[in-house]
Amino acid sequence: MKPLLKTLTETFAPSGYEDAIRKIVQKEVKPFADEIRVDAMGSLIVHKKPTTKSKNPRRIMLAAHMDEIGVIVSHVDKNGFVRFTNVGGVFGRYTLGARIRFLNGTTGVVGFDKLESVNDIPSMSKMYIDVGATSRKNCPVQIGDFGAFERSYMEMGNRLVAKSLDDRAGVVVLIEALKAIKSTPNDLYFVFTTQEEVGTRGAGTAAYGIDPEIGIAIDVTGTGDTPASLKMSMELGKGPCVKVRDPGMLSDPRVVEWMVNTAEKAKIPYQREVLLVGSTDARAIQITRAGVMAGALSIPCRYIHSASEMVDYEDLKNSAKLLTAMLSKPVSF
Ligand code: CO
Ligand code: ZN
Repeated sequence: MKPLLKTLTETFAPSGYEDAIRKIVQKEVKPFADEIRVDAMGSLIVHKKPTTKSKNPRRIMLAAHMDEIGVIVSHVDKNGFVRFTNVGGVFGRYTLGARIRFLNGTTGVVGFDKLESVNDIPSMSKMYIDVGATSRKNCPVQIGDFGAFERSYMEMGNRLVAKSLDDRAGVVVLIEALKAIKSTPNDLYFVFTTQEEVGTRGAGTAAYGIDPEIGIAIDVTGTGDTPASLKMSMELGKGPCVKVRDPGMLSDPRVVEWMVNTAEKAKIPYQREVLLVGSTDARAIQITRAGVMAGALSIPCRYIHSASEMVDYEDLKNSAKLLTAMLSKPVSF
């Protein structure tokens, strides 16, 4: 999984511009798919049909989002300095000193207007990107160009650090599960969604098209295991998290129980998750059409939405294992 995760996290695909990453995912999943299509919003839908008979085959949608947070050019001044706004949850405190790569290959560094006090964190409207231009004319980016954080993948023992582990960690787990499933009585749709970071847009339309009975998002979740962090119980290295609640969704209790029972039976470590900030594609799937039984399998992650997000390799492996075990057997509810 590590080489693929490196490739995925070093690819640039801010919301709405997922082409580069979709190509990589498509190549990986092709040998394991019965059907592949790309919908109008750009989500990659990989269909794996039932291989065995069961009394109660379920149509299940799995979703991991391909897009990452980024920036968009909003203004270029006469000296070639670029003003920008956020695409998704970009925080000022993580943006200072960042390097940005635009989709046309241009790179730049983030600077800021003079501060009232030396300890201030300027708002994004007081920041600019210096792309090495000297005038509006020779500026290599234009209004509406998209960029994302530039940062390489790195391993610190079992801890993996990269930009866009939200949600390339979920993407790699979903690919791994697809590859590992030998047989299944269920009708499975592995969906690599778009525009999650701007409001779970791709997952909602994909779910409308697929009309699943059960939906599960695979995404990262925040932890409470760093100094003076939010009081949350999730920790790195303690196993995949079974989402019970986040501010956008209450997981279906049947889905929670299904995950917990499967983990216990297969002796896979797991954690129960109550997340205090953020939500996932599962929210959009749950409230599609007449409603869907939904839940989420979350990967604990530190420093979410920074350019150095951190996950634990064992958690990735155990997440893929849990998902594989769940999807390989008949669903009991
Ligand atoms: Co995110
Ligand atoms: Zn995410």
